[in-house]
Amino acid sequence: MIVLGIETTCDETAAALVEREGDGRGHILSNVVLSQIADHAAFGGVVPEIAARAHVEALDMIIAKAMGDAGRTFAAIDGVAAAAGPGLIGGVIVGLTTAKAIALVNDKPLIAVNHLEAHALTARLTDATPFPYCLFLASGGHTQIVAARGVGDYVRLGTTLDDAIGEAFDKTAKLLGLGYPGGPQVEREAEHGDPTRFALPRPMLGRDDANFSLSGLKTAVRLEAGRIAPLSDQDVRDLCASFQQAVCDVVTDRLRSGLRLFRERFGAPMALVAAGGVAANRTIGKVLHHAAAAAGTELVVPPPELCTDNGAMIAWAGAERLAHGLVDALDTSPRARWPLDAASKAGARS
Ligand code: KG4
Ligand code: ZN
Repeated sequence: MIVLGIETTCDETAAALVEREGDGRGHILSNVVLSQIADHAAFGGVVPEIAARAHVEALDMIIAKAMGDAGRTFAAIDGVAAAAGPGLIGGVIVGLTTAKAIALVNDKPLIAVNHLEAHALTARLTDATPFPYCLFLASGGHTQIVAARGVGDYVRLGTTLDDAIGEAFDKTAKLLGLGYPGGPQVEREAEHGDPTRFALPRPMLGRDDANFSLSGLKTAVRLEAGRIAPLSDQDVRDLCASFQQAVCDVVTDRLRSGLRLFRERFGAPMALVAAGGVAANRTIGKVLHHAAAAAGTELVVPPPELCTDNGAMIAWAGAERLAHGLVDALDTSPRARWPLDAASKAGARS
């Protein structure tokens, strides 16, 4: 079956066509992503109203390009999926309403996809990863450790109590005068910095649960920066390296806890799966590698363009749900908040 996927929950306007074979294998027919980074860079973060307006302007063109790249018409698809949340509500409304219109006019089923479920299922598109697996989702908006047990069957093992990991990178970059998005900039500066120069806190270390807390770490960077201001280029590099090292130590410890909780409740995971923009960080990538090895499982990291927000992951989650008969009514509401474990169950494990 072929599904059109639409993603508009944050600052990417994206559409894609994905095919799911009867045996559960998937492949991408087209995948078009328009990043709004330039629209938001001057503000050091995503401005919701600017994002919503940019989605309205671009979405029709992006969908037309996705259809054209795949060489398919609406008549040839089996369903229309859109991210119905969680996310910035203005953008979610744009994507979901467009999907409803296409579904209604072409008499196709609508699949209202949870954006987090789409991140969670991407490893099945790229690597055909079998359930159950442990997902580590780390993006600008989300930090979660999740047991993925089946389509629509997720148990959240840990989450952040305050900032998301990507958000902590972005805020640290901003206070050090680096550009947006901050993750890649902090990583670049950290390459030539001393990770041991500043003794920054490692929040939540050693706790039995698998939760994160990162706002204290960001505040500690601000205090250190204020203490030694004005900052030299080397000070900035050392602060970035020390911050990144603290994040890595926290991720190591929290994943150890999360993987232990997974094993206690669900047995051995088939894989540790990474998703979200932060997975692009090479130092964090090494941490993930070690975490998987220590837990005796395989590490699956989809390619960077499928780890960050994209339409293919929405189309794929739509196809997986459609294959289980999980479709949604045309009066389905967009949702700013939508915890992953509240995504409805397929009842089947595959
Ligand atoms: O998944 P994503 O593209 O969008 C969502 O937030 O949903 O993730 C973007 C986040 C940003 O906070 C960005 O700073 C972070 O991922 N990020 C990184 C790196 N590349 C992107 N964080 C650390 N190191 C990186 N290399
Ligand atoms: Zn995302």
